[in-house]
Amino acid sequence: MDSRLSISFFGKRANSPLVLASGIMGVSYSGMLKAVENGCGIITTKSMTLEPRKGHDGPVVAEFKGGFINSMGISNPSIEESLREITDFKKHSDAPIIASVFAIDTNEFVNLIKFVNDSEADAVELNLSCPNVADEFGRPLAVSGEKVSEIIYAVKKTSKLPVIAKLSPNAYNVPEIAKRAELAGADALTLVNTLGPGMLIDINARKPVLLNKFGGVSGYALKPIALKIVYQTAKVVNIPIIGTGGIIAGDDAIEFRLAGASYLGIGTAVYYHGMGVFTDINERLLRYMDEQKIDSFNDIETIA
Ligand code: DHB
Repeated sequence: MDSRLSISFFGKRANSPLVLASGIMGVSYSGMLKAVENGCGIITTKSMTLEPRKGHDGPVVAEFKGGFINSMGISNPSIEESLREITDFKKHSDAPIIASVFAIDTNEFVNLIKFVNDSEADAVELNLSCPNVADEFGRPLAVSGEKVSEIIYAVKKTSKLPVIAKLSPNAYNVPEIAKRAELAGADALTLVNTLGPGMLIDINARKPVLLNKFGGVSGYALKPIALKIVYQTAKVVNIPIIGTGGIIAGDDAIEFRLAGASYLGIGTAVYYHGMGVFTDINERLLRYMDEQKIDSFNDIETIA
């Protein structure tokens, strides 16, 4: 790995600013390890919950011209089971790993943090923004600045690890909500989760493509929205941002960096291009630095 891409992550060293986005490889250590072996610098697990969740019945993912919609339903084998995979991951790699957790209220988030505190995770990401579980749990928490603030404040009192808030692109005032997250003690932000939800209809079967009807929108369609949110938020907060949402190729990653992201989350790109996409994006970042005569990734400056 080229040292020009090396970056610190809460005191740990990552070989690349690329972050595997939550949900892409589930919670199994072998999948997460594969991403690192292919040049990914930092790993995020699938969101974990207190109890196991089977998730929604399929089809849960569908492609359209602008990206993907998905409605997994937070499938995971519970936080206790999932954290064992982090232990196994750490036997094979010292890449930083972020434990993503999902809950429906403050108490449940705090309970999840107690488990994460005893794990080998390097940071915890609060999934405040899943678009898919509205029927069960109400709207995503992250559209309310007040809720975001309350949860982070409570979690920070318990967490031994840095706390990352993952926000939703659905709110009209994400920079404002992000500022409240920072004031409540968030150590970083992940911007953004999937948009929507949206839907696709199979015209021959005359029914929705996803069995759950609706799913979060990711990929190309999300990029300009995510990029604008990262750009505006970076101007008002002083904590690092993991920029994510439609980074499919190296040039997209560069745009997010120029908008103010410290790290670059890669999700849907793996559906399109497989694990090789991490190497491709790393190589493009290095070529860009050569072209622009910039010494290291850290030296790429945010635009005005
Ligand atoms: C799911 C969760 C998310 O946060 C998301 O963006 C998309 C899907 C899910 O598990 O359903």
